[in-house]
Amino acid sequence: MRAAALRKDSLHMPQTVDSIVSVRGVSKTYGDVEALRSIDLDFPRGKLTSLLGPSGCGKTTLLKIIAGLIEANDGTITVDGKPVLGPGPERAFVFQDFALLPWATVLRNVAFGLELRGAAKAEREEIARRYVAEVGLGGFEDKYPHELSGGMRQRVGLARALAVDAEVLLLDEPFSAVDEQNRRKFQEDLIRLRTNQKKTFIFVTHSIEEAVYISDRIVLLSPRPGRVSQIIEPAIDRSGDPDQIHRDRHYLDTVEEIWQGLKQYVD
Ligand SMILES: Nc1ncnc2c1ncn2[C@@H]1O[C@H](COP(=O)(O)OP(=O)(O)O)[C@@H](O)[C@H]1O
Ligand SMILES: [Mg+2]
Repeated sequence: MRAAALRKDSLHMPQTVDSIVSVRGVSKTYGDVEALRSIDLDFPRGKLTSLLGPSGCGKTTLLKIIAGLIEANDGTITVDGKPVLGPGPERAFVFQDFALLPWATVLRNVAFGLELRGAAKAEREEIARRYVAEVGLGGFEDKYPHELSGGMRQRVGLARALAVDAEVLLLDEPFSAVDEQNRRKFQEDLIRLRTNQKKTFIFVTHSIEEAVYISDRIVLLSPRPGRVSQIIEPAIDRSGDPDQIHRDRHYLDTVEEIWQGLKQYVD
């Protein structure tokens, strides 16, 4: 039995998918460097989709284009049918390097997005406290970023994105600066958050295991110029013990299947 439904490209995606973010014909070059070539993708609402591919294949570029932080040379992005012309409140970006305010406490950092939106202090602190707890940082509200581990700082970044109540969360390799134990814990939390929060997650990673572990859908990008090479939907039941997932036959088969496809690009 096959571990996953494999499709050659997104054009063959079933029409029944309720997609919140659509990418059509997006290309991007930096000077002479062709980073992305005609990307067509749909991101299903309320699901976690990973962009998986080797370093330099344009994952960050695509995520930043979706975020409205950089412009594509060609093509369009729409969110709920509306074209993306820049950053917007329905999308929140969680940076690889945390991007926390070093002079502000955890609570203030988490509340910062709400502060920018003009929410009253009492309201934004109440909301921030809830999300600090939600990402497992209860008790650390008054600490400063330099007092936290890399994993904890990344949780602050995630809490900040959740606090502004964006529908789409864009995460760029959020676990790359986090040690192995914290990464496992954080991945488990993300699975739980995705279920509780009903947000749409677009998650960049270069780790096959990570992608298969946490994703509803994996978009495999080819090496530069980045193109959609495959879409994989791991048929993994995540409702039980998270540790069990790593032993799930579908998990193991899907990891192997993706590796077989990617192997050709590794020298
Ligand atoms: N600001 C930039 N100027 C020039 N080249 C860039 C810039 N940003 C990214 N690139 C190049 O574009 C390609 C894709 O980069 P990136 O999107 O960061 O890939 P990934 O996140 O998959 O590692 C790489 O070759 C990278 O060197
Ligand atoms: Mg990157």
